Amino acid sequence: MTGTRKLFIKTYGCQMNVYDSERMAEALAPQGYVATGNAEDADLILLNTCHIREKAAEKTYHELGRLRPLKAANPDLRIGVAGCVAQAEGAEILRRQPLVDLVVGPQSYHRLPELEARARAGQPALDTDFPAEDKFDHLAARPRAARGPTAFLTVQEGCDKFCAFCVVPYTRGAEVSRPAARVLAEARDLVARGVREITLLGQNVNAYHGHDGGLAGLVRDLSRIDGLARIRYTTSHPNDMDDALIAAHGEVPALMPYLHLPVQSGSDRILRAMNRKHTAESYVALIARIRAARPDILISGDFIVGFPGETDEDFQATLDLVRAVEYGACYSFRYSSRPGTPAAERAQVDPAVADARLQTLQALLRDQQRAVQDRMVGRETDVLFEKPGREPGQTVGKSEHLHPVFVADPGIAPGDLRRVRITATATNSLAGVPV
Ligand code: SAH
Ligand code: SF4
Ligand code: F3S
Repeated sequence: MTGTRKLFIKTYGCQMNVYDSERMAEALAPQGYVATGNAEDADLILLNTCHIREKAAEKTYHELGRLRPLKAANPDLRIGVAGCVAQAEGAEILRRQPLVDLVVGPQSYHRLPELEARARAGQPALDTDFPAEDKFDHLAARPRAARGPTAFLTVQEGCDKFCAFCVVPYTRGAEVSRPAARVLAEARDLVARGVREITLLGQNVNAYHGHDGGLAGLVRDLSRIDGLARIRYTTSHPNDMDDALIAAHGEVPALMPYLHLPVQSGSDRILRAMNRKHTAESYVALIARIRAARPDILISGDFIVGFPGETDEDFQATLDLVRAVEYGACYSFRYSSRPGTPAAERAQVDPAVADARLQTLQALLRDQQRAVQDRMVGRETDVLFEKPGREPGQTVGKSEHLHPVFVADPGIAPGDLRRVRITATATNSLAGVPV
């Protein structure tokens, strides 16, 4: 080991990248790296990137351009690109942006120490393999240090669904599940370090098959860990929402009443063109079954507007579906053509039309989200407090339904799990008082 070196990681994209960034920092700790929040101080800068939409991918090159003066000022600085842009573009990044020293795909993070040493020695450092070994079996052991009340835990990676618009099957590879015993050991360890809420992650987390009982079996085992108060999971595909998982929502108190279940469109014609393999009707019926098991569950979703071939009629069907479901939270995007995906070859919708549709959809989703939030006023909910709020004396946490809740009470500190009565709602948060 050499002296202390500083590592700066900037994370883009989904929660999976947040988890991976933690694991990358841990993998480099034996190399003498400690984290810094300041890129100017760093000996190694890693950008953990996202390729899902064109804008997300372009951020990588924009950020690399901004790092040029740092590299000019410090010739010992090494710059690496990790994540989904690294996987998708590989050696192309080195050609397009010569200040990059290291490129590492999401399945090769356990090889980072070796890649870092090569980059340090001025040798080419590129690894975008999908290795046969599981990176999680080879990553450094997790540290024992205390941590905050919430944590992500990746249990499944990759995707075999091949939606016609999506890069994930290419950037993350085929679906792989981590064995339940490993996940449970990591969860116990997180709880021993102070974690009270774990969010299980996977690109298709409900396709998890590392437990004989699937994701439901894993959730039930996790719920028996003393001190683990809350379990969440994301992101799910409608076709993997099985009876056992739906039943768990009604029967496992630690499983929080929030479900992110993207549908993408309300038009069967577009769903077919997207290769989603479900219909609008089957999705709405599925939501009804989930609500029968857990009536107060908050449903969240993702939508794409302006998918190739989408007509006004198709878009109206999306609005109809949204009205039928009543979402408590939602993410909606204008379709972005991604190189290498089947839909990229098809005739594109006029961008102005797609933009207008996005505005209409977002206005409806905003109204629904606000209505669901407003209904919380006067109700009691458990809040897991995470950090100080915007104003002195305030602490903010998350409700069972994942709403941010602000409470001004000197008796409350981050890490506390308290019953709170909701007294007011604002655009994206709630306020309350302890009961
Ligand atoms: N595995 C998850 C999430 C994938 S990416 C799932 O299957 O739901 C997150 C969201 O980004 C998707 O749900 C989709 O709404 C959006 N998205 C993916 N590819 C896109 C593209 N090419 N253009 C616009 N939005 C896209
Ligand atoms: Fe992408 Fe579809 Fe897989 Fe989700 S299910 S990651 S949208 S291909
Ligand atoms: Fe982006 Fe890769 Fe996640 S493309 S959304 S970082 S899986």
